[in-house]
Amino acid sequence: MKNKKLIVGIVAAGLAISLAGCSGGAGGRGGDSGSGSSGGDNSGALVGVAMPTKVSERWIKDGDAVKSALEDKGYKVDLEYADNKIPQQVQQVSNMITKGAKVLIVASIDGGSLSDQLDSAAKAGIKVISYDRLLTGSENVDYYVSFDNYKVGVDQATSLLTGLGLADADGAKIDGAAAKNIEVFAGSPDDNNATFFFNGAMETLKPYLEDGSLTIGSGQDQFTQAATLQWDPATAKARMQNLIASTYSGGTKLDGVLSPYDGISIGIISALEGAGYSDSALPIVTGQDAEAASVKSIIAGQQYSTIYKDTRQLADQSVVMADDILNGKTPETNDDKTYDNKAKVVPTYLFQPTIVTKDNYKEVLVDSGYYTEDDLK
Ligand code: BGC
Repeated sequence: MKNKKLIVGIVAAGLAISLAGCSGGAGGRGGDSGSGSSGGDNSGALVGVAMPTKVSERWIKDGDAVKSALEDKGYKVDLEYADNKIPQQVQQVSNMITKGAKVLIVASIDGGSLSDQLDSAAKAGIKVISYDRLLTGSENVDYYVSFDNYKVGVDQATSLLTGLGLADADGAKIDGAAAKNIEVFAGSPDDNNATFFFNGAMETLKPYLEDGSLTIGSGQDQFTQAATLQWDPATAKARMQNLIASTYSGGTKLDGVLSPYDGISIGIISALEGAGYSDSALPIVTGQDAEAASVKSIIAGQQYSTIYKDTRQLADQSVVMADDILNGKTPETNDDKTYDNKAKVVPTYLFQPTIVTKDNYKEVLVDSGYYTEDDLK
């Protein structure tokens, strides 16, 4: 009995290998696991790609990179941007399902707003990859691909400490450094990443806040106080203006601002400049995404740092995942415990972020081909 099973297994495996070898063509390895969208020949299948907004440069790069990598593999692509409007994204994802997409790659605006669409997708056998931002509150999220979001926050705080002269470049505390005043900003409360960034940063700042080497001048140290709905630069600018008026107009010096995203950093710097800060008197301001405008600002000595996340890696990995799914293979993941979306722990592939300052931008951003020197002029 045992032997018979073994023989059947060997024959089946051999058949699968020879079938895989025969089916040529892009995206057409033709593996058939018989489960949902992974079944049958999916060469040339439609993949829906939902992105949040074109306001931020990074999502344009992400969308373009995902689309071209999918097309290189022979898939058809429906790439949509939702202008940061939740109902628009809901509609776009519904349309992708109606059009017969076999896989959805989704970077949400509000991680919890697409549950009905995810239910419909699951019923239709469509697999869902959560792209950079975790889709929350639904079992019907198959995979997640992102950067180590907690580490992004740690890196943001480490660069703030380094810029303030409180820690060395590796984050080791420098004893005897003068105490500093800071303010802290957080991202959008409907984006799961925002709390990871904030928690990573605040845990890193905690020993300095506890021993008095850092003070949050306004006392606003809670996520809800620091959050910036939809990562909106104008909202951050208005909050910075209020903080300057309430806390820093009577001679108290503001030394640093923890900012979670380059667009927010631009809003913060604009409020400071509007209040009369010159470039050389600006506090240490952090960021994220290495957007061209902010890298230029870093080169000009305004913003201090940003966090580089190579969107090419993220895009490629999401496409490898989609291609695996469409060929009946189980995508590779490297973190199957961190990202609990409140309905399940979503199998995840994480990349690592890099701190960028004036000292290393050339090496990290230009030598890697992410930008040309001209892009940053
Ligand atoms: C992304 C960040 C980005 C932010 C604002 C987050 O979900 O992970 O890279 O800065 O959204 O777009």
